[in-house]
Amino acid sequence: MDKPIGIFDSGVGGLTVAREVFNLLPHEDVVYFGDVGRYPYGGRSSEIITRFATQDVALLLEHDVKYVICACNTVSAVALDDLRDSYSIPMIGVIHPGAEAAVKATRNGRIGVIGTNATIGSNAYARSIHERNAELKVFSLACPLFVPLAEEGYVDKEATYLIARDYLQTMLDVEIDTLILGCTHYPLLKHVIADVMGPEITLIDSGEETARAAYKTITESGLLHSRAGQHPSPSSEHKYFVSDVPEKFSQVATRFLGRIVDRITRVDISTY
Ligand code: DGL
Repeated sequence: MDKPIGIFDSGVGGLTVAREVFNLLPHEDVVYFGDVGRYPYGGRSSEIITRFATQDVALLLEHDVKYVICACNTVSAVALDDLRDSYSIPMIGVIHPGAEAAVKATRNGRIGVIGTNATIGSNAYARSIHERNAELKVFSLACPLFVPLAEEGYVDKEATYLIARDYLQTMLDVEIDTLILGCTHYPLLKHVIADVMGPEITLIDSGEETARAAYKTITESGLLHSRAGQHPSPSSEHKYFVSDVPEKFSQVATRFLGRIVDRITRVDISTY
């Protein structure tokens, strides 16, 4: 189907998911919306997060997207059911793919989950894991400082290692063998988290798992763009929309994706 895929997030973090989608589905057009004007969502109430996310999807629908990827863990954790009630478009969030991968990966039955305050408070990962296997033990921890550290490029600083050691000691104490990175920004700190947790712990990147699940659905449901079958495949188009000035988004996006991100359009999300 020759329509774009829509991806949205509270800000720039969802580009870690978009990056995987670009790799797996290079022939697809993508419309990305980052709600930078109202970011962060992670400390907000469910009502506000749901209201914001409903507007974010409305914006994507205006661009006639065929499929919506909710890249934000916070929205996926607290608002996805409401979004599915409001809109009939096929939609995927990051919680179930991340939970599924963790259930497959654990050997000792002890899984850790880290995320924003809203994601952890919702218990969505634990519920999703227990739907798959009620015997598993889930240990959840909010690590809110990881978001600004990743966004500011503090990915290799001693301060980040100190904070990571402080946060993650409780995960080491409870002897998990699998840790879900339940936030868009955490994959950028993966090497720090891996260093602190040690080589025995499997890290699950929910964004990566979601991109794989989206690839599967799009391929199997006849939603692929017709240029997917053409050789050589004509280039696809990626468009970015943000709800405030695009300069910071452009800088951080360029760092997240490792290439220049331009063609960013500012929109007034309050009108949706
Ligand atoms: N995108 C959010 C998430 O994955 C992190 C940033 C925020 O708090 O808005 O939970």
